[in-house]
Amino acid sequence: MSAATTAGAEAARRRTFAVISHPDAGKSTLTEALALHARAITSAGAVHGKGNRRGVASDWMEMEQARGISVTSAVLQFAHRGQVLNLLDTPGHADFSEDTYRVLAAVDCAVMLIDAAKGLEEQTRKLFDVCRHRGIPVITFVNKWDRPGREALELLDEIEQEFRLKPTPVTWPVGIAGHLRGLVDVREPGTLLRYTRAPGGAKEAVEESVPAERAALEEGADWEQAVEELELLAADDAVHDHAAFLAGRSTPVFFGAALSNIGVRLLLDAVVDLAPPPGDRPLEGGGTRAVGESFSGLVFKVQANMDRSHRDRIAFLRVCSGVFERGMTVTRAASGKPFATKYAHSVFGQDRSAVETAYPGDVVGLVNASALRVGDTLYAERPAVFPGMPTFAPEHFAVARPADISRTKQFRRGIAQLDEEGVVQVLVSDVRGEQAPVLAAVGPMQFDVVTHRMAGEFSAPVRLEPLPYHLARATDAAGAEQLNRSRLVRGEAMTRLRDKDVLALFPDLWQANSFAREFPDARLDPLVAAH
Ligand code: G4P
Repeated sequence: MSAATTAGAEAARRRTFAVISHPDAGKSTLTEALALHARAITSAGAVHGKGNRRGVASDWMEMEQARGISVTSAVLQFAHRGQVLNLLDTPGHADFSEDTYRVLAAVDCAVMLIDAAKGLEEQTRKLFDVCRHRGIPVITFVNKWDRPGREALELLDEIEQEFRLKPTPVTWPVGIAGHLRGLVDVREPGTLLRYTRAPGGAKEAVEESVPAERAALEEGADWEQAVEELELLAADDAVHDHAAFLAGRSTPVFFGAALSNIGVRLLLDAVVDLAPPPGDRPLEGGGTRAVGESFSGLVFKVQANMDRSHRDRIAFLRVCSGVFERGMTVTRAASGKPFATKYAHSVFGQDRSAVETAYPGDVVGLVNASALRVGDTLYAERPAVFPGMPTFAPEHFAVARPADISRTKQFRRGIAQLDEEGVVQVLVSDVRGEQAPVLAAVGPMQFDVVTHRMAGEFSAPVRLEPLPYHLARATDAAGAEQLNRSRLVRGEAMTRLRDKDVLALFPDLWQANSFAREFPDARLDPLVAAH
């Protein structure tokens, strides 16, 4: 078989997706359930967890464990029904939306997880916006149906009203939230999939197929209500329409309880059956890269010091086309320089194993990839450049200084490293000098990560002095000069180290507008908003 045929056939078997949710909706629990249900290819149990589920592989940062939030992202690969699923973890906290955005640039589909009692929450909304913006189709999973919650129809209404997305249930609950009797697969409406507690207190519920007549007899009003609701939904045309789903106009909806593994298999089936496989990918400046063409990949995340005993830096690459083979020499599009892929791994938290071959949709961890940056394209043979990742408008700013002057060299190295990883954006100004870099963040928790990692990894504790700015606009050299000269407006111009973009910082919109009035010719453009 030719390389192109292999790449095409393997791509067709891949589903690369992420779970998006508000913290506490059950993402870790679902991830664990999905991986256990499927056959984890690389490492069983290498899933994300927190609290007393510590020790699972993706919790490699102490802070992540202490806070119980996911700061960094891991990748899981597992098999289901002959297909290969790549599940990319996204940080749940709003402060890491930049990171989430990058991860979502590397997936073909998202599972939106909703807490049955809470419905749509702040972070669900933001993440959904990112999916819509990127044109990523969304499958919805309503979780925690084993606990009291809202009505199913009401939750569908909320999705439709708020997201202008037609919910098309594929499974439907029998029994209200908190009194779950089972699920109906709407494609087989004559059968109740009944769940009962497993003997011996096991978490996983036992599934039993019950024909309609018996279900009506044994479940009475709960079954009747489910049948009525299903008729209502059919009358409302709330049935899965694949083209509408792929176009982001509808979302297939599933119900369940990740904790007891209820509905998880059906969700996995949906990922295989409904999520699109990797397709041809748009290129910067027009055109596409076909999956079957020679190798190309996108670096969507760079992470250093994931493992203290390794002290290295990993670039996460999503294969976009062709076949990746460890050891092949590829080209880094940004510099035109060759890059050797001798140290390619699959990475699950601290667990690593060498990857020999990877196909479109797969994620490869390139170890010691100090030359690579987030947004980089790598290719073999025919050149390709994928669109870069946007940098979000920062809203929090602080001057960073070494707490210990004798550690200045380590301080500089650490700040540069964290900037390259995209942990924060680093700005410099002529006024303050390079010795006093300004850290710019979308969310203040990014500063905590900096403080923690500077002290722990670079042995260079930092002092951060907050600056009174909360708004950034793109300007140019002339605008920067005018801002620094203005006597009326409080603000300051700085240059972003990473891309040399000039930013104008203001305390608020009022000051920004005053500046625009004072210097009507000055360039003042909005940056990509994270919220
Ligand atoms: P997250 O990653 O989205 O933040 O959520 P996580 O999976 O950690 O779940 C948050 C809480 O919700 C956990 O309880 C978890 O056990 C619970 N949970 C998740 N799925 C279900 C479900 O289907 N049904 C019920 N009843 N609960 C669910 P916790 O008490 O905060 O943590 P833990 O001590 O159980 O780990």
